[in-house]
Amino acid sequence: MRPVTKKILIASTALLAGLGMAYSASAQEIIKFSHVVAPNTPKGKAADYFKKRAEEILGDKVKVEIYPNSQLFNDDKVLPAILRGDVQFGAPSLAKFGKWTKKLGIYDLPFLFKDMNAVTCFQDSDDGKSLFNAMSDKGLTGVGYWHNGLKQLSANKPLREPSDAKGLKFRIQSSDVLAAQFEAVGAVPQKMAFSETYSALQTGVVDGQENTWSNIYSQKFYEVQDYITESNHGLLDYMVVTSTKWWDGLDPEIRDGLAQAMSEATKYGNDLAAELTAQQRQEVIDSGETNLIELTDAQFKDWQTAMKPVWNQFSGEIGQDLIDAAAACNK
Ligand code: LMR
Repeated sequence: MRPVTKKILIASTALLAGLGMAYSASAQEIIKFSHVVAPNTPKGKAADYFKKRAEEILGDKVKVEIYPNSQLFNDDKVLPAILRGDVQFGAPSLAKFGKWTKKLGIYDLPFLFKDMNAVTCFQDSDDGKSLFNAMSDKGLTGVGYWHNGLKQLSANKPLREPSDAKGLKFRIQSSDVLAAQFEAVGAVPQKMAFSETYSALQTGVVDGQENTWSNIYSQKFYEVQDYITESNHGLLDYMVVTSTKWWDGLDPEIRDGLAQAMSEATKYGNDLAAELTAQQRQEVIDSGETNLIELTDAQFKDWQTAMKPVWNQFSGEIGQDLIDAAAACNK
């Protein structure tokens, strides 16, 4: 080969290799997943597991970046961010979809589920799964339910009877159902971002809050609350959501791989949630920084009776059939 021809060949091979590299770099799907809790929580661990499995299944085709602790977005900002394409996945608590659909308000009804088995039963049912499409008119699709657990009440005074909550200010997630729940016991609900809750409790902007053992532990709410009532009065779980347009537009191989990783992460996180809850509940008790209040059966029933009218308030917008289907899971 003449030297000139050889040079051209080398140059064009280098150019093609360069183009190839550029092509494969741009073909890698960068997937951002934003959430508000600590990594050491059921949602934090499930998100990390999703990253691990997605990258194992799809190799260099994807890079999954997890942003915990509200680093990227608070829950009220994450859904618009998903629609803009700034982030691909979020997993807000089921209490935080009120502006997008009224249907998910079902999960906030007080005392709807007697335990997490009942929650799983409903979420696995056709009725539960149909709610993945509750926001399809807004361009959002649900791709999984992730457990955290049942909520406990905390305050700087002991809450044994519903009347003990009267006049107290409680931080709540952004849910009208939760607002009604606290109003039902004469308390004053205040919607507030998760990331602001610790300091609001510390400075006395609010007197109490409701949350799971995992969030009470990882956010250190127990340091600034003298009493925790083990009320198990409501649920705090999540829906993992993504943009319908983005999801449907993915290369099928990538979409299938992500769907598999999501289903494995869901199982992993949901199996782990109960264990983490028990462990972190014990850590809070062992810290000696707060007092645990266990309700008698009669006290538990009093809370139930006081909060139950909330069901009727919201049955119209949620649908009585859906509520009946969920309640039937309390076997
Ligand atoms: C809260 O705001 O209390 C929770 O929704 C936080 C979370 O994601 O668990």
